[in-house]
Amino acid sequence: MLILGIETSCDETSFSVVEDGYNVIANVTHSQILDHAEFGGVIPELASRKHVEFFLPVLKESLKQSNCTLDEIDAIAVTRGPGLLGALLVGVNIAKTLGFLLEKPCIPVDHLVAHLYAPWLGMEKKKDIFHQLVLTVSGGHTSLVLMKGHGDFELLGQTLDDAAGEAFDKVAVLLDLGYPGGPVIDSLAKQGNPEAYPLPRAMKQHKNFHYSFSGLKSAVLRLLQQEKEIQKADMAASFQEAVVDSLLIKLQRAYLHYKPKGIVITGGVSANSRLRQKAIDLFDNKVSFPPLSFCTDNAAMVAGAGFYIWENTEDKKKFTWENVQIQLESELG
Ligand code: KG4
Ligand code: ZN
Repeated sequence: MLILGIETSCDETSFSVVEDGYNVIANVTHSQILDHAEFGGVIPELASRKHVEFFLPVLKESLKQSNCTLDEIDAIAVTRGPGLLGALLVGVNIAKTLGFLLEKPCIPVDHLVAHLYAPWLGMEKKKDIFHQLVLTVSGGHTSLVLMKGHGDFELLGQTLDDAAGEAFDKVAVLLDLGYPGGPVIDSLAKQGNPEAYPLPRAMKQHKNFHYSFSGLKSAVLRLLQQEKEIQKADMAASFQEAVVDSLLIKLQRAYLHYKPKGIVITGGVSANSRLRQKAIDLFDNKVSFPPLSFCTDNAAMVAGAGFYIWENTEDKKKFTWENVQIQLESELG
C-alpha cells in the first residue's frame, strides 16, 4: 500500500511516499529554519505563508523521487495536530483537496503518534518492536511513551512547561547564540566545563516521569544577571548537562520500572551529541536513535503511522476527506 504523507505542523514542509508503513520511497522536507532565525523562534504566521509557498515544489519533488503519479497513491496521511493552527490548516486542506479530487482515503494522524513510528521506518513490518519506551524530544514536545501495540500507547510523562528543544532555543537567545539553539549549544559545549555552573535537575526527586525545563532556563537567566563575566562555553556545557541529566534520570526510572524491550530516543534534540553519548553509556545497545531525517519533523513518519492506523482500523470507510479535522490536543494526553 502506497501512502502519501503530509507534514506541515510547524516549520517543516514535508511530503513523502511510503510503502506498507516502512519502505520510504521518497521523503522530501523543506525546512524554514533560515526564515525564522532572525526572530529567534518560529513565527506562526510566517510558517503558514512559507508552507503555502513551498508545498507544490516539495510535493512535486517527492513524486518525482518516488517515480509515482498521484493516481498510483492508495491513500493520503496528514498531520492533524498538535501544532501551529495556521500551519496545520495548510497541510490538512492539501490532504482534503487531494482526497476529494483523486477519490482516495484520507487518514488523519496525531503528530506525536507519528513521532512514535519514526523507528519503524526502514524496518521490515513484521519485526516486533513492541513494549518499547519512546522518548520524543523536540522543539515542541517532550514525551515519554510506552508503546505496547498499534494504537496502544501509554503516556508515562511529558513536560509540564517548556519542551527540551524549546529550552535549548530560549537559552541560546539568552546567550546571544542565535536560532535554533540546540546545534550551537551542542558544539559550543564541547569546549566548556559541564560542572562550571550549578544548575538544577528539575523534578529529580518526584516519583513520576514528568519533566520541567522552565526553572532551568530561569536559573540560567539569574546567573547571567548575577555574574559579571559569563564563560559562554561553560554555561552552554552546564546547561546542556542539566537537560541531558533531567531527561535520562526519568528515562532510567521508567526503564527500571517497565522493563521494556528497548528504548528509542527521537525528535530534533536526539541529535544532541552529549545526550547520545550518555544514553549509550547508560543503556548500551538497548537504546537506539532513528536516522536524523526521521527524528526531526518529516512526512515519512506520518505516512508510516497512517499505514498502521489504516491496517488496524476495521471501519475503513471513515477515512474520507470530510472526516479529516484539525485536533490541537494530542490523543496521547
Ligand atoms: O523535531 P524538530 O526538528 O522540530 C520540532 O518538532 O520541534 O526539533 C527541533 C528542535 C529545536 O528546538 C532544536 O534546537 C533542537 O531540536 N535541536 C537540538 C540539536 N539539534 C536540534 N537540541 C540539542 N542538540 C542538538 N544537537
Ligand atoms: Zn515534531
